[in-house]
Amino acid sequence: MGDREYIITGGYCHPPSDPASSTHARSRFKGKSIIVTGGAGNFGKACALRMASEGAKVALFDLVDPSKAKEEIQASNPGCTVLGVQCDVTKNDEVERAVASVKEAFGRVDYLFNNAGYQGAFRPLPDYPPDDFRRVLDINVSGVFHVLRAVSNVMKSQEPQGGSIVQTASMAAHSGPPNMVAYGSSKAAVHHMTRIAAKDLAPHDIRVNSVSPAFTGPGFMWTRQVELQAEAGSIHYDKDPKVVAQQMIGSTPLRRYGSVDEVIGPVTFLLSDDASYLTGIDIQVTGGMN
Ligand SMILES: NC(=O)c1ccc[n+]([C@@H]2O[C@H](COP(=O)([O-])OP(=O)(O)OC[C@H]3O[C@@H](n4cnc5c(N)ncnc54)[C@H](O)[C@@H]3O)[C@@H](O)[C@H]2O)c1
Repeated sequence: MGDREYIITGGYCHPPSDPASSTHARSRFKGKSIIVTGGAGNFGKACALRMASEGAKVALFDLVDPSKAKEEIQASNPGCTVLGVQCDVTKNDEVERAVASVKEAFGRVDYLFNNAGYQGAFRPLPDYPPDDFRRVLDINVSGVFHVLRAVSNVMKSQEPQGGSIVQTASMAAHSGPPNMVAYGSSKAAVHHMTRIAAKDLAPHDIRVNSVSPAFTGPGFMWTRQVELQAEAGSIHYDKDPKVVAQQMIGSTPLRRYGSVDEVIGPVTFLLSDDASYLTGIDIQVTGGMN
């Protein structure tokens, strides 16, 4: 499944060849520290790489062993400090221990990319498996809450207090995509949690924002979406994945999917002081869909 690409041509506009170089050279995060959840995955590793390249110490949390991602980040950024912590975000005690270990190692936690997530099954609502619904909500809502709570307590108690947090929601939070009742509902909760947390944490100089990516590629994350929507068999998408790819891209004003780097640019913007007067907002990284 991962080998097939469903390339769409004819986009109105093409991604920059090196999005990381499209803004001025930076060291916005020099000497600071970040926890990245889902750190072994696509967005998590890309965010960690960008943060390390701008001087941050990075802690990768993931359910799977993040050693490979850690080695990659260290190889691209010689001398940077990277911790890999295997941790299940659905388990609050594991999260508390993992966050405490980062505070111990780094002295403070300045940033959080609260990003671990699970997409779940693609089925029309009457067929949606209840166990999978619970699992999606457990990871995407309770897991995000556990990490947000533990990290914000550290940010609140450190001297000087404060920090900046970005959570990964999704366009599914806004659009209500067919066949994704668990995922769409869970990401709507992340979006709402962000707005509430921004108010609760503002007195402690902690900003909380979110990003809502839509179609992102290339590779497995794109082909999985396309093939599972085709397999789900609904009136909304064709049964042929090639046609589904065209339907998806056709609904995107820029007529292409976004790259991982094009999602991480807005993430690091929101984390940084460039966004110092922004809290409780969501950036829809969607090529113009809304
Ligand atoms: N890729 C997309 O097209 C897309 C679009 C919108 C939103 N998102 C969201 O972006 C985030 C990252 O997605 P990605 O594309 O990098 O996916 P990915 O599968 O590459 O990364 C997700 C990571 O989360 C980890 N994870 C899952 N359950 C966990 C748990 N219980 N505890 C700790 N870690 C756990 C996984 O092991 C994985 O490494 C997710 O929240 C996803 O829902 C992705």
